[in-house]
This record gives sequence, C-alpha cells and structure tokens, in this order.
Amino acid sequence: MYLRFIAVRDFRSWASIDLPLDPGATVLVGRNGIGKTNLMEAAGYLATQSSHRVAGDQPLVRRGVQQAVVRGAVVHQGRELLLEIEINPGRANRARLNRSPLTRPRDLLGILRTVLFAPEDLAIVRGDPGERRQFLDQLLIMRAPRLAGVKADYERALKQRNSLLKTAADKPRENIPLTGKLAPELVIVLFEKVFPMLPVVVPVSMKMVPRVTAELAPLIVQFVTRLFEASPIR
Ligand SMILES: Nc1ncnc2c1ncn2[C@@H]1O[C@H](COP(=O)(O)OP(=O)(O)OP(=O)(O)O)[C@@H](O)[C@H]1O
Ligand SMILES: [Mg+2]
Repeated sequence: MYLRFIAVRDFRSWASIDLPLDPGATVLVGRNGIGKTNLMEAAGYLATQSSHRVAGDQPLVRRGVQQAVVRGAVVHQGRELLLEIEINPGRANRARLNRSPLTRPRDLLGILRTVLFAPEDLAIVRGDPGERRQFLDQLLIMRAPRLAGVKADYERALKQRNSLLKTAADKPRENIPLTGKLAPELVIVLFEKVFPMLPVVVPVSMKMVPRVTAELAPLIVQFVTRLFEASPIR
C-alpha cells in the first residue's frame, strides 16, 4: 500500500499544497517551521482522524479560517481509493470516498494504514496512562475499523455516567449504571478486543526498546483493569 499523493487546504500552516508521492521513501527537507511535520500530521489524520500532537481538531485548521480539507489517494493491490475529509471544528466532519459522501466519516478509517514515529511518541512511556490507552485504542481501530463506532458509543456512555456521578454524589457508586442497556456489552466488546492485542504489542516492544535506548532499561508492561471489580463476570 502507498499514498500516491497528499493534498491539503487550510491545514495548519498550509493554505494549499498537493504533494505527489512515489512508492518507497520520501524525504521532506526544509527549514524549521516550514510545515514538514504538518504534512505528516495531515497524512496521519487521513488514516486515524486524529492528530499525534493535539487532542482536538481546532489547531489543525489554518488560523483565521473555519475549515481544513485533507485528501489523498491510497493505492493498494493495483486499486486506487480517493480519501477526502473536511475538518470542521465544532461541527461534524465530512468525508468522501471516491468522491461519494459517506454518512459517517469514520467509515474512512482502516483504508490508509500508517505508522507515525514522532518525538511525541515519548508520551507513550512518559505520559499519563490515558496516553497509553489512546495508543492502544488507535492500534485497535487500525486493526478493526468497525470498533471506532463501538468506542464512540462507549465514550458517550461514559460521559453520561460521569455527569450522573457528579449530580448524584450521595448515591452509592454501584447503583449508577454505565448507561442505558447497551453499555455493558460495549465494555465487553472493547475489552475482548484490546486484551488479545497485548500479546502482539508486548513482544514487539520488548524487542524494539533495547534498539532505541542506550541503557538497557527493562521494559515492564502491565495491563490493569478495574472493569469487573464492581460486578464480576462469570
Ligand atoms: N493552525 C495553524 N495555522 C497556521 N499556522 C500554523 C497552525 N498550526 C501550526 N502552524 C505553523 O506551522 C509551523 C510548524 O510547522 P511544522 O511543525 O510542520 O514545521 P517543521 O517543518 O516540521 O519544522 P521542524 O523542522 O522544526 O520540525 C509553525 O510556523 C506554526 O506557526
Ligand atoms: Mg517537524
């Protein structure tokens, strides 16, 4: 698979650029701040609909405008797919595949598969557990794009529950449902998918860490869940 071009409009520092690419390696050379990483970030956004540098979409849109657009053509086994996404902070993004509008932008996920190495990756080691969870979530969605919907539903349910927790601070916690009927199933689907991924991620990490660190600090990987503490499953 390769990206035949990446084109953006009003993305970060770029008003407009259409960059043709070849299979194999491309090296972007330019002075600091010229916008090299911005283009990597745009390609990453086409793959994951998120940025490796910021949590929300607003910083991705060029200052002073309302909307950014990222386009790219993915060539895979002789077929080409044209991916387009309009980034509309504060409103729904819109996506097109081969020029046909998609009902849900997340239907683009999984078509372009990228691996992005950046200084920000240190957050996986140094950052909060949330950063590591986000890394696993992204990996999960890359492997099984369908789960993007499950994750979105789960996050919505969690938000509702957290606001319920705030308004009902005096009630025992166990009595506050995650939300509606769907929620326990969502949790289990996510858990079942994240857990088997660990035997894939951990051995690779074990192998790579000594290759990138001078001192051989041992890598310790723990996966801790409090998911079933309150209501153990059979
Ligand atoms: N939303 C935005 N609107 C306009 N400009 C932006 C926006 N976000 C970032 N920039 C500009 O993008 C530039 C940084 O671009 P980028 O990080 O891609 O540089 P780079 O070429 O990777 O530099 P370096 O060689 O230092 O890594 C900065 O000048 C910054 O002001
Ligand atoms: Mg850079």
